[in-house]
Parts: sequence; structure tokens; C-alpha cells
Amino acid sequence: MRKWFINSVLGSACLLLSIHLAAQTARPIVVDVDKPISSIQPTMWGIFFEDINFAADGGIYAELVKNRSFEFAKPLMGWKILKTDATEGLLILNRGDSNAANPRFARITRNNPDEKFGLENEGFRGMGIKKGMTYHFSLLAKNTEAYPLKIRVELVSEKGQVIGTANLAPEKGDWRRYTADFAAIGTDSKAKLDIWFEGQGSVDLDMISLFPDDTWKNRPGGLRADLVQLLADLKPGFVRFPGGCIVEGYELATRYQWKNTVGKIEDRKTMINRWNTEFKHRLTPDYYQSFGMGFFEYFQLAEDIGAEPLPILSCGMACQYNSAEVAPMDQLGPYIQDALDLVEFANGAADTKWGKVRASMGHPAPFNLKMMGIGNEQWGAQYIERYEAFVKAIKGKYPEIKLVTGTGPSPDGKFFDFAAKELKKLHAEIVDEHYYANPEWFLQNATRYDKYDRSGYKIFAGEYAAQSKSGANPDNKNNWRCALSEAAFMTGLERNADVVSLCSYAPLFAHVDGWQWTPDLIWFDNLNAYGTPNYYVQKLFSNNKGTQVLPATRDKLPLTGQNGLYGSAVLDKETNEIIIKLVNTTGKMVNQTITFDGVKRIGSKAILTVLKSDYPDAVNSLEQPNQVYPARQEFFVKGKSFQTILPASSFSVYRITLAK
Ligand code: AHR
Repeated sequence: MRKWFINSVLGSACLLLSIHLAAQTARPIVVDVDKPISSIQPTMWGIFFEDINFAADGGIYAELVKNRSFEFAKPLMGWKILKTDATEGLLILNRGDSNAANPRFARITRNNPDEKFGLENEGFRGMGIKKGMTYHFSLLAKNTEAYPLKIRVELVSEKGQVIGTANLAPEKGDWRRYTADFAAIGTDSKAKLDIWFEGQGSVDLDMISLFPDDTWKNRPGGLRADLVQLLADLKPGFVRFPGGCIVEGYELATRYQWKNTVGKIEDRKTMINRWNTEFKHRLTPDYYQSFGMGFFEYFQLAEDIGAEPLPILSCGMACQYNSAEVAPMDQLGPYIQDALDLVEFANGAADTKWGKVRASMGHPAPFNLKMMGIGNEQWGAQYIERYEAFVKAIKGKYPEIKLVTGTGPSPDGKFFDFAAKELKKLHAEIVDEHYYANPEWFLQNATRYDKYDRSGYKIFAGEYAAQSKSGANPDNKNNWRCALSEAAFMTGLERNADVVSLCSYAPLFAHVDGWQWTPDLIWFDNLNAYGTPNYYVQKLFSNNKGTQVLPATRDKLPLTGQNGLYGSAVLDKETNEIIIKLVNTTGKMVNQTITFDGVKRIGSKAILTVLKSDYPDAVNSLEQPNQVYPARQEFFVKGKSFQTILPASSFSVYRITLAK
């Protein structure tokens, strides 16, 4: 690992205050406390959830069984037949239109009760099982035989030990849900589920499911609590969902349709995930969407973690990198209707058509949806035309809903310029810009919004991440060099909070064995998860958001990279604190004086949090999740200024309470 600069001993010892001889002394930074520049939107720092890298199935959705309803293109993908006698039978039957959302089911027939016959599910690269945890097994079964088969369930560790068992005896009769709860007696991140059938006869099965008890808020069939907690800890202002390209689909038929993701779980139609085949070097043939994490769960998640929902809807254009299929203008009606109905699903009274669906799912109160995005990374005249049609219909019915539009996949170039010009003419409210670029781009673009037009739309920095190699390169790493450049860039977003009102890193999640795209904010396996250095940068910004931007200058100039220093300052009116963020991108520590103008004195306890590494290539991992981790320290400020040390290649956040 290459070292950033020479004096690591001094670097780690000098978190704060004591002036070290080896450090360079810099001209003071002045923060004007009584000259707030603009307000900061409560939505400023949010998150972007897309079902990529096993983020939903295999990730935040805690279901452990893959292909639980046999609806993958290959109905037995994820399943293995366990048998000792060739005469034993499994059939996959199809109900066709009589159950269009979930047509297939399995019929098990046993002729020879002396032989063993079973099915094994491999989970999502295994199943994460915890010793002592209760597991809830369930399935739908139908039985026409007088003597139905009995079912024995076994959780089996990677090494072949049985670490949990349960028994079920479906009775004669029509489709019914059967459940069995049991405790695991071992821990394993790659366990499997074996289902053994005993006796003679047959049974029909569907929706074979296994959930841990410790879901988020202990909701049955809910979300993985450790992953939700990592999101909650960010205190995000909004959650953008469900994408990303997944909104658009490879072709229109595989676009994300929210109506297929609500209601009873067995009625949500499983669909291929567009990231299944996207990257030849990372093919993921077993990547599907069960929609267990659907639009209801999304709204509920946003509500749980105190964030505004920001759904993004198909605008009738499939991914322009893929099929580029477009719904003709005279056939856009159903797409627009989906958008209108989503507002009703989120906000409508419990006696409206879609409000009733929400209420039946356990949430009679509205979700209070305020914003909605039209299309993802679309470009060209076709997009503008479709966007206009959506605006007309949505604003006509729901003028209070703020609409988000976009400038396509790049932060510059001809598609970007065209969209920016057209969207300005249309008085767009919020425009989504995406930046996937190298760390140098992020440093250079810390001033991107300093001169942006203030009379036009607001900016949604909707997808960004520094790429250590190149865009979506499989060798990209979530290293400290990238995270530090994002911190520098984000000081520019913060300084310009009058024009930038929403920001989110992308993508959010990645399974260490199931990813397609890197870098990603949070990585996990079937049992554990960790935040990347980039995660801690995001967290430091969003946990220190403030309410007003303050001028922070050196020699009367904003801190935009002179001598490698980037910075911004905010006031938090609610807590009466000044928050200063300083990013030292140089390999040298710096003695820094910070002076406050516009106050008589600052007299109080303060907190400094520093995120740093001596190694630009430093990363966190499951084995070493805290290689780059914020260190927190209290200090005291007296009078109107204080001195501090900015360690080499560091991001420092100061929270200072104003004297009363
Ligand atoms: O974040 C991953 C992908 O990058 C998103 O799906 C898409 O919008 C962008 O191209």
C-alpha cells in the first residue's frame, strides 16, 4: 500500500489543537457567523436505493430462499433435487392465466416411502444463519391425497451439519399457508435449506420461504435490520427509489412497474433483474426481483428513517444504452396513469382505489409524498416531449408534488447541454445530474455550482461516486483517495445549498459475492455489513447538515482547493452550533487558525470528528471494517478563534456551540 506522506506517527498523534513543529502554518480561515448566505434544505443529503448488486433480494429484503415460487426463467434455478430413487417425482405445474402473477408451483409425488426425497435451496450465495436466532419457515401447500406427505425442514451448514430443524404436516385441502418456527443451533454464512418429504402420496407447494426473526422493527417478512440500521445512521433527508436504470428496463416490458410490487406477497409478479445480464464480466443469471421489497416497504422504510420518499418512474423510455424502446406519445397514457396512481397510493384517503390498497397493507395514514422523478438517465428530444406530458398531467391533478427531471448520464456534453437548455425553458423544478468520474474530476468540480444560474431550477446531485479506475470498472475500489475527493466536492455542494437541494451517492449496496457494479457505499455478506470510507464521508455530511450556509473564506476567498484545502461552514439554528467541514487533500498536516466574525465570542465545548488515512488506497472490508473510521474528540473554544491541526489527507468536522 502506498503511503501518502512521510510522518504517520505525527499524523495520527495530532488530531487536534497542539501545534506541531512539522506542520505547515496556513493563513486563517474566517467564518462569518452573522452573514448566512442561504438556507439548507432538510432533504440535502439523502440516499439512492437501486436493486443492483443484490441490494433487494439477497440484501435488504431478509428472505433467505431464492426463487421461492419457481418463477425464474429456469423454474428450478436455486433448487436441487435430493433423491436416492429415480422413481420419486417433482413436477413444475403452471396455472397460466388463472394465477397470472404467480403461475408456477411444485408437485411432489412419492411412491417409495423407504427412499429419501427432498429439495434443497441454496439461498443467495448461501443463507446467513445465526446461532440462537428463531427462523420462520412457511409455505403454501395444497393436498388432494387422503394421506398427504409430511415435511421435515433442515438448515444445513456449509460443512454439512444440521443447524436447525422443523416439521410440518399439510392437511388435506386447498391452498393454505403452513408455518413452523425453530431456533438455529449454529452460525453459518453459507447454509442451505433442505426440505425432506416423508410418507407416500403427493403435495403441491408454492412460496417456500424462510425469514429470520430479527428483521427491522421485528416485522414478519421484513427487512434486514443491520442494513437498515446503516441507512438510518446516515439520517438521510430522502430515499430515491427504485433506480437508476432499473426504472427504465432493458426494454419497456422489463421496466419497473410499482403496481406489480404492492399487495399480497404471493401476488407480486417475479421479474428478471435488468442487472442479471448487463455486464458480461459479471453475469448474474440468478438475479431476479421478487418485489418483496416493493413500493409499500419503500415508503415504510423512508418513514421509519425520517426521510422523504423520492420515487422515480418510467417515462415510457427503456434504457437508451440497451433497447432504447420508446412508448409512442399516443400510448403514453398508462405510464402517466401509473404516476398519478402512485400519488394516490401514497397520499390518497383510505377509501380511494389505491389508498385502500395502502390501508389494506397496514398503513391507513398517508405517506405524505411530496416529490417524484420522471425518468432516469434519459436524453434527447423524445425525453423532453414525454417529460412535458407527465408534467401537464401530474401538475394538473397534484400541483403540490415537486417534479424531478434529469440531464442524462453525463454532467456535460451535448445531451447534457440540450437537456439543460430545454428544461430551463420548461421551468423545471429540480434537475438530476449524475457524476461518475475520477477523483481529480471531483476535486476540480468543487466549484461546479459556484457560478450556476440562480434563476433556474434546483439541482439534485442524484448519482455520484469517484471511480478509482473508470466508470463501473470491476476493479474500482471504495478507497480513501476517492472518498476524500468526494468530501472535497461535497463542500462545494454544501456551499451552494441555495441551488443544490438534494444529493445522493450511488449505488448504495453491494453483496460481496453477488455484485455487478463497483464502487458502492455499503458492502455486506449474508451475516455482516460494513460502511466504506465513502459511507463515513456521507455520514459526516448528513449528520452535520445545519440549516444555513455561512461564508468560510481564507484571504476573502471561498475554500475551493487553494493549497489543497476545501471547506464549507454552516449554522445549525436548531442546536445553535456552527459546523465547519475542512478537507485537507495534501500530504502534509497544516496548522490552521479559525476565526469567527460577527459574534462577540465563541465560548464553549466543541466536538471534532476526523476521518483520515495515511494511505490513499486504504479500504474497509468485512475483515477490517474500521480501517478508515471517524475519530471523535471534544475540545474547548474560548474567545473568537481557535487553532487546530488538519492532518494530512483528512476530512475534519468541527461542531462548535455558540455562546448564549
Ligand atoms: O448507479 C448505477 C447506475 O448508474 C444507475 O442505475 C444508472 O442511473 C447509472 O447509469
